[in-house]
Amino acid sequence: MNSSKQNKDGGKKGKAPAKKNTFNKDKGKRGSKPDRRPSAKKEFDDKDSEEPEVRRRGDSKAGVRKGKGRKQELEAPKQRHEFRHEKDEPIRLNKYIAAAGVCSRREADKLIEQGKVVVNGEVTTEMGVKIKPADKVVVDGHEIQPEEFVYILLHKPKNTISTTDDEKDRTTVIDVIENATGKRIYPVGRLDRNTTGLILLTNDGELAHRLMHPSYQIRKVYQVETNMILSDEQLTALRNGVELEDGPARAYKVDRHPVLANVIRMSIIEGRNHQVKRMIDAIGAEVINLKRIVYAGLEIGDLRSGKYRNLTRKEVFELRQVTKILDKKSLKL
Ligand code: URA
Repeated sequence: MNSSKQNKDGGKKGKAPAKKNTFNKDKGKRGSKPDRRPSAKKEFDDKDSEEPEVRRRGDSKAGVRKGKGRKQELEAPKQRHEFRHEKDEPIRLNKYIAAAGVCSRREADKLIEQGKVVVNGEVTTEMGVKIKPADKVVVDGHEIQPEEFVYILLHKPKNTISTTDDEKDRTTVIDVIENATGKRIYPVGRLDRNTTGLILLTNDGELAHRLMHPSYQIRKVYQVETNMILSDEQLTALRNGVELEDGPARAYKVDRHPVLANVIRMSIIEGRNHQVKRMIDAIGAEVINLKRIVYAGLEIGDLRSGKYRNLTRKEVFELRQVTKILDKKSLKL
């Protein structure tokens, strides 16, 4: 158990990285005036990725750690969205596995097919089989139980990583929310270590899987502070698409910040590694600060850095709509 303390931005005491002013004078030739404010700092770490973490219940890396970090001012969330089914009503095995937060229904089908699912002591490879809530289900050697779903919206601070645990013992988003839910929850997708803003955490494997799947076209809006005031041509280039090493990428919407000249708001659908940063690099500028303000219709609003809240029922319902999970029964709306 790690007992190190966190500082007020969620970082561990004594581990805050030295702040470096990394304004790159060679960059920005295509833009207009560079921002020479002393606060302009590059705080990105290319080692962190946006790739989703593989989540599996029973995986020792996926546990919620207790007692680490400072006390949150927010109380533990009270509102819960529960996975429930009518008493004794049979339920499809893949749905049961997904409801236990193991994986998506589709992935559960694969596990069933591969003979990794044991129901009441017998390997079950039959697709579409239904089970009763009282049945004992073991997946890959771990007994599972459907549990109530929780959905936490966190304003991720800088210097935190979007995984459940970290081998280098850096502060994770799970550390920031502490054991608020008492459940194993996972970040949905990733933000780079020094990207701030909206990140969703949940134990709803099916929903998380769909949110990260490209076919659902989930929109993310980033507020991007750059090392210069971007020209109209640079904004147009972002809208038209820029060439990245793993293929072209475009922003679906780009607006200037109403007040701050070197800040734009950029909306993207894909979630490739360091995508925003690489797109800004591609137009000859540099990201100084990056904050996600919208994810799948959820908005960060005025939630302060390091704070979190439960999603409202309406927000959960809307997420289930955009991901085409419309099983109201499991949500008791
Ligand atoms: N794009 C990036 O470059 N970084 C993030 O964290 C998210 C999107």
